[in-house]
Amino acid sequence: MEKSERLRILNALVEHIANGTTADAGGIMRVPMSDFTCPELLTQEQEAFFRTTPLLMGLSSQLPERNAYWSDNATGVPLLLVRDGEGRFRAYANVCRHRGSLVVPEGRGCKDRFTCPFHAWTYGIDGRLLAVNKSDHFGNVESLGLRLIELPSAEMHGTLWVRPTGGDPLDEEQCLSGLQHDLLHWNLSDYPHAGTQVIDARMNWKLGVVSYGEIYHLNILHAKTVGKEVHGNLQTFERFKNNYRMVFANQKIDLMRMLMPNRSLWPYRQVTATVYFFFPNVIMMVDAFGVDVLRIFPLEGSPSKSRTIHTWYIDPKVKQHFMDHAISVDDRLKRFRDAVENEDYVMAADIQTNAECGNQSEIVLGRNEAALQHCHNALRLGVGRDPLPVEDV
Ligand code: FES
Ligand SMILES: [Fe+2]
Repeated sequence: MEKSERLRILNALVEHIANGTTADAGGIMRVPMSDFTCPELLTQEQEAFFRTTPLLMGLSSQLPERNAYWSDNATGVPLLLVRDGEGRFRAYANVCRHRGSLVVPEGRGCKDRFTCPFHAWTYGIDGRLLAVNKSDHFGNVESLGLRLIELPSAEMHGTLWVRPTGGDPLDEEQCLSGLQHDLLHWNLSDYPHAGTQVIDARMNWKLGVVSYGEIYHLNILHAKTVGKEVHGNLQTFERFKNNYRMVFANQKIDLMRMLMPNRSLWPYRQVTATVYFFFPNVIMMVDAFGVDVLRIFPLEGSPSKSRTIHTWYIDPKVKQHFMDHAISVDDRLKRFRDAVENEDYVMAADIQTNAECGNQSEIVLGRNEAALQHCHNALRLGVGRDPLPVEDV
């Protein structure tokens, strides 16, 4: 994020603290609870969001060097992501041209050729079919021009994007919609992968997405954990087409207010957390420790099951500090997981149960829950539904 933008946000946060205000959506929104339970809606969402829409997969350090690969099935479409011999990011459908099995099992590593575990056909990292096992017995398939099926992909300012079932090349403005400047200034390519963890929960995948979109709950639900360090119910909020940016302040900002009148000198990342939503299913959080990326998916074709894949990319200076002082990366991952799994997702599972019971037909999103209102409407529009009205109350 550019310096002038950071200062503008710090000024807005200080104003909110001083006046007891927060970002305001201009009204309330009622959301039908059937949006969390309807199997037909989930089928539409899976088709619209997890097949043909470009998805943010992670940061560039998932593929840190030439010939690095990452096989990932989280979207529901087996994908093989690589950094080829020239250092270029490419994505393939992870499907063997022989009989259709996975060429590479899920995981990450480094090699320049992949041998299918079924009958040992071998592909190069550039997708070419290099060898057919016992080709004199199998038959000459050279004339078929078989190679791994390449998918539209792009590396944008340190982020990796893929359209899982092919189609048009990716368009940076469509994916980032104005957030390019933010990503550019975060130098995301410099952040090494620190760890990945999977959190399955009994909730609709959209309930996972909206868990990160308001801090009205922070000093209440998380009173004994992360809530102790943060100004609850206080945030900035801006739409970037389907995406959004929300910034909240931690309590170190109060120290800065006392000690340092010149806000342009404040260490922005020490006193804030910047939360991005990248349509349709990714939350990215930038704070003093690094970058957390949460990819949230429906699970097993069920409207009431979801999978969250949390990856932490650590700030290089923080990494050095952790190494110098023998601080465990796993502890920070566990603390993050505990707050999400034992607090946020417990609430979300309760909402899911009530949505399924049907005693109440809708929930209400407040003026201070602007990001949630935005998400619900962006996702409704994404499957061709009418947006929900904002009611002035
Ligand atoms: S399915 Fe891959 S080699 Fe047969
Ligand atoms: Fe939370």
